[in-house]
Amino acid sequence: MTRRNISVLTLTIAALFLTGMAFAQVVDPGVRSSTGVNAGQPLASVSANAADLAFFNSGLDQFNEQQTVTGDNPGLGPRFNLDGCGGCHSQPAPGGTSPSANVFPNVGPNPQSQAIVNGLVRSTTNTIPSFVTANGPVREARFPFFFNAAGGANVNNPNGGVEDLFTVSGRADAGACSLTQPSFAQAAAANNLIFRIPTPVFGSGLMANIDDSTLLNNQAAQAGNGFGIAGDFNRNGNDGTISRFGWKAQNKSLLLFSGEAYNVEMGISNELFMQDRPLPGEGGAGGTGGRGLPANCLNLAGNGYPEDIAHSDGVDASTSASDVTLFAIFMEDLAPPTPSTTVPGGATSISRGRANFIAVGCSVCHTPTLRTQPSQKTAGLSNANANLFSDLEIHHMGTGLADNVSQGGAGGDQFRTSPLWGLGQRIFFLHDGRTNNLITAVNAHGSNGSEANASLNAAAALSLSAQQDLINFLRSL
Ligand code: HEC
Ligand code: HEC
Repeated sequence: MTRRNISVLTLTIAALFLTGMAFAQVVDPGVRSSTGVNAGQPLASVSANAADLAFFNSGLDQFNEQQTVTGDNPGLGPRFNLDGCGGCHSQPAPGGTSPSANVFPNVGPNPQSQAIVNGLVRSTTNTIPSFVTANGPVREARFPFFFNAAGGANVNNPNGGVEDLFTVSGRADAGACSLTQPSFAQAAAANNLIFRIPTPVFGSGLMANIDDSTLLNNQAAQAGNGFGIAGDFNRNGNDGTISRFGWKAQNKSLLLFSGEAYNVEMGISNELFMQDRPLPGEGGAGGTGGRGLPANCLNLAGNGYPEDIAHSDGVDASTSASDVTLFAIFMEDLAPPTPSTTVPGGATSISRGRANFIAVGCSVCHTPTLRTQPSQKTAGLSNANANLFSDLEIHHMGTGLADNVSQGGAGGDQFRTSPLWGLGQRIFFLHDGRTNNLITAVNAHGSNGSEANASLNAAAALSLSAQQDLINFLRSL
């Protein structure tokens, strides 16, 4: 367990009024021990049903499997971030969030000295980007804008798509496919580079199963809160219903996220996303004139498209299902995190902290509990309390957190209220993983234009021991 002492932040008086005041002199107790926590288990109702459990276990296997370009688990690439879901979603158990070690393929102290990095990435054709470090977090990169002729960010031409870190080029099984990585160094120099870290998926089946009316009623109930907090929903472009997954609530469902992640993170086309994915400019977006992936980088596995399919030769339901279906079922069936009633700080401190969390308005956005709708899938998802600590709305979080990327209805400074369940066991915080200190994460709520400024000010006005109770409560989740 790490302990961190926070020094008083030096803010000017003007900044205090404009933005938020800061927490001071409280201690983040650090990542809560996983002893007895049992993260990553299926819902009890799933364990109790052999067929459902078979689906869950097949999904878990697929989630952790390392994919290859050709061979047994084919389809990886030609561009990718990593070769398996489980590599990025692993803390504290499969389905979780960014680990702090063994992050990307064998990123060690001097990765460039190795001819082949973990057998996955050829360092003769790939370099490890500077922001991928041995101790994490896992970072995905996006360029908010396309570049202008002078190599700067063209703020009139928004990009915002994921720039995959690696290519399969140089691998024996990649044939003549020769691709170059995105220009991360140029993007960094032009201040045109933003990051996202993985969000955990424990309890995500409950989040998926909350009716829009429940979310809208919760929003209505918060109107007139004394903290100046508004809030919107991001909506799915296809059917207009409320979308809820991802840092900007840009994604409608676990199945859709699975299909997208398989293609965007791993380069594996599937029944939801049928084509191998080029980079944004390579695919012609933003008027760049790109013509798509070169012919000799297509169909590398030689099986045709899509690379992941439902199997007509399966012997039972779980072996017939496509990988994307299994990913979605695995995530949907994952039990929510179990909070501690005593650690850290003891039961009294945690319950005072919860009361403070509500009193200073954190709970206006971080709604403690929302009720799920009836589920046809398994009893554990039906009419249940999802203690997610989120309204699933998007809020303006100010200049300090803005990443200038728009996704669906979410603009450059809007983010989904982070669900806080499982927070006690997360290592990195905020959409870009900028800190592993919970107090820094709370203080980041304060900046020009943030809906959370008044709430943060109220928190900062609490006594030091009340602030510590609040932090203990957060780490108990
Ligand atoms: C390279 C690392 C990486 C890999 C590999 C990866 N993810 Fe993720 N995952 C992320 C990041 C980063 C986010 C946040 C994306 C965002 O909103 O910008 C995320 C978010 C998610 C979410 C949204 C959860 C929520 O509540 O918001 C789901 C679901 C998900 N991933 C599923 C998967 C699945 C399934 C796979 C494998 C097919 C996968 N991921 C592979 C990095 C990864
Ligand atoms: C206006 C809505 C709003 C209010 C009020 C608010 N938050 Fe948040 N909170 C957010 C959003 C949105 C994020 C994600 C921001 C990002 O990643 O850029 C977040 C992120 C967090 C995180 C980091 C979680 C993670 O996944 O990394 C913590 C911890 C947190 N909030 C605690 C608090 C506390 C404590 C308070 C009260 C002092 C509070 N929040 C008030 C909206 C809010």
